[in-house]
Amino acid sequence: MTMILPTPTGSSSTGVAPVRLAVRGLRKVFADDPRPALEMLRSGATKAEVLQRLNVNVGVAEASFDIRAGEIFVIMGLSGSGKSTIVRLLNRLIEPSEGEIRLDGRDLTGLSYSNLVEVLRRDMSMVFQSFALLPNRTALENAAFGLEVAGVKRGERRRAALAALERVGLADYADRYPNELSGGMQQRVGLARALAKNPTIMLMDEAFSALDPLIRSDMQDELLRLQREDARTIVFISHDAEEAMRIADRIAVMEDGRIAQIGTPAEILRAPADEYVRAFFRGVDASRVLRARDIARPPDDGPPQPGLEPVAADTPIHALLGRVAAAPGPLPVVEADGRLIGVISRAVLLEALDRGGDAGREVRHG
Ligand SMILES: Nc1ncnc2c1ncn2[C@@H]1O[C@H](COP(=O)(O)OP(=O)(O)OP(=O)(O)O)[C@@H](O)[C@H]1O
Ligand SMILES: [Mg+2]
Repeated sequence: MTMILPTPTGSSSTGVAPVRLAVRGLRKVFADDPRPALEMLRSGATKAEVLQRLNVNVGVAEASFDIRAGEIFVIMGLSGSGKSTIVRLLNRLIEPSEGEIRLDGRDLTGLSYSNLVEVLRRDMSMVFQSFALLPNRTALENAAFGLEVAGVKRGERRRAALAALERVGLADYADRYPNELSGGMQQRVGLARALAKNPTIMLMDEAFSALDPLIRSDMQDELLRLQREDARTIVFISHDAEEAMRIADRIAVMEDGRIAQIGTPAEILRAPADEYVRAFFRGVDASRVLRARDIARPPDDGPPQPGLEPVAADTPIHALLGRVAAAPGPLPVVEADGRLIGVISRAVLLEALDRGGDAGREVRHG
């Protein structure tokens, strides 16, 4: 089934922000001599073909993308598609075989190792899937650990770590040890450790995947709340389509070491690039992903009726039914700055909700 949803009239707020990370022609092959494998990849060979012919593992076959300031950029894809390899290339735990990574316009591939470490230490923090807490240290000491490694003085790092624990709601647990904390609390400490450095970029590799569903969605809310307070650039890796749809400004879907599609959740739901991408998002309920701005349309009959209470552009469409049904005409949709971006009529809303429901039903019936 092809899902065709109405074209949005609003532009996303990430459209104008400056590019922080620019990745071009990035490839990573795991071989002592990468040249034959790179040669094959350049002429379009797949990961499987390289493995078969040369017995060389391809981490990333080719990736090019921009990540903008303040956005949550989610990378998703099946196991082995190259997500973690991309993150490791971004924070330079491993060296690219080919390609360019620019941070704020500066080519990281050209920097000396000590310069590089300094740049990355200042700008980036990493949150892992396993909580990676030190068992014999308190929550506070764990939260301060990144600063300790970076050589920050004791008083200052305790202050920063305590402030970070406060931000994730764990100030009262500062003196507890990891085994006295629940999994969700431990992951909050992991998040606090990343926040304590006050990084402008956070790399999160399956950071919430080990958590129970309810705690996981709490953590997603927490991340979105922190992001509203203090927008950072976040690269978030996930297996989970619901999670990606919920938190992403944009999503890159990886398939066999290449990027199959990059777009906003609404763009990807509306027009998946191929069957692989479509299959990934099949179970997602579009009515919870799409926002008023995604379905708002230019008014057919001139400006909206005066006196109608406008709808905030980021309202999920499943929450609009009552208001739209009760209104005497199409409701105006406005961005946070008051700008009118279109209207939503009863017919447009019902059509979008109906298609969202279809997407859900399709999965339940196989
Ligand atoms: N150090 C390494 N040596 C050899 N091959 C590697 C190495 N690291 C990763 N790979 C290979 O690179 C490919 C991509 O691995 P990667 O860990 O990036 O996948 P992923 O998308 O993160 O998967 P998952 O969802 O399971 O975490 C895989 O085929 C993997 O076998
Ligand atoms: Mg991985």
